[in-house]
Amino acid sequence: MAGIELNRISKTFGATHVIDDVSVSVAPHEFVTLLGPSGCGKSTLLNIAAGLERPTDGRVLIGGRNVTDLSARDRNVAMVFQSYALYPHMTVAQNLAFPLRIQRLPRTEISQRVRAVAETIELGGLLDRKPAQLSGGQRQRVAIGRAIIRSPAICLLDEPLSNIDAALRVRMRGELKLLFNKMGTTIMFVTHDQVEAMTLSDRIIVLNGGKVQQQGTPLEIYRNPANVFVARFIGSPHMNILQAQLDSGVVSVAGLRLPLSGHAGRSGAVQLGLRPEDVQLGRFEKCVSVPAQVKLVEHLGHGAIVHYALDDLPPIVGLETRDTDIRAGWQGNIHINLDGIKLFDAVTGLAWPDRKGMA
Ligand SMILES: Nc1ncnc2c1ncn2[C@@H]1O[C@H](COP(=O)(O)OP(=O)(O)OP(=O)(O)O)[C@@H](O)[C@H]1O
Ligand SMILES: [Mg+2]
Repeated sequence: MAGIELNRISKTFGATHVIDDVSVSVAPHEFVTLLGPSGCGKSTLLNIAAGLERPTDGRVLIGGRNVTDLSARDRNVAMVFQSYALYPHMTVAQNLAFPLRIQRLPRTEISQRVRAVAETIELGGLLDRKPAQLSGGQRQRVAIGRAIIRSPAICLLDEPLSNIDAALRVRMRGELKLLFNKMGTTIMFVTHDQVEAMTLSDRIIVLNGGKVQQQGTPLEIYRNPANVFVARFIGSPHMNILQAQLDSGVVSVAGLRLPLSGHAGRSGAVQLGLRPEDVQLGRFEKCVSVPAQVKLVEHLGHGAIVHYALDDLPPIVGLETRDTDIRAGWQGNIHINLDGIKLFDAVTGLAWPDRKGMA
């Protein structure tokens, strides 16, 4: 099994810089996700990996070999497109067989492999149907089956779940993960959905404006976002970001004073990041109490998103991890987890070095 490496890739369309010096490497068997907002260059990078687009600068390596000048056909890479484009006039079996017929494999081998793949994607009973007679999730699986039938070294998937309704998408996400674990294929996956990226990936590359913002495992990125963009992009509801002032180890947001250790020698303007789960009605091990009023409660069933108004402070959003009967209009003390506080530079938005040993 091969890995794939994008080495210092840049891409311009006319005068527009779309990709700016991006390096990504995916180890054999690894599942890596390119995550970022619409227009950040995800599909362009994937197309460059596939050989459908040429980089303006940089190299593509597959299994250590420079393939930058090879056409898509010669890269042994399979791709599932953003719109998964099955042949409507062909049956499921014919769609699956198509890449093998192009390779002119013997008829018996083709039908053997079609049956094997159909079993893997659990569509064995539907081989004679046309795409129009399938559900969105089933069509999606045919597109994936068609990509993997050639046993490609590498599989590239561009938002393969984006055309499926929410409930099915969650189920397909789990199924995809199991399927790819079983196959052990090297995967480069594209999505703008941070939950999809968190749940599926070994590693995530966060992109914005054609630049890598951060690379890491899902939990590394969630726990230690490298900058304010990543902090807000990963996590739902969004991280609260408040303008604050640091002075001798105490961060002040208007009248609220939060004692931190680890920054004793530093002072200046900062942006304070606080995840909603670090703002709760109950106490934390290290916390401060703040008088607040509930403005809005969004029930999730297993918990609730609570919007608070605070005296002299911007509004903040909290997350109760169990359901609560609290209602709009409630007034009382809420708690802020001091261990959950992140600091970012007020100007650059970059994370300040970690704050081990907080008060
Ligand atoms: N052939 C092209 N000519 C000019 N500009 C292009 C071309 N292809 C893409 N772009 C521009 O490059 C940028 C990145 O496009 P790309 O399709 O890679 O984004 P994306 O991250 O996949 O977005 P989405 O999530 O909406 O699919 C966009 O601003 C797009 O308009
Ligand atoms: Mg795209």
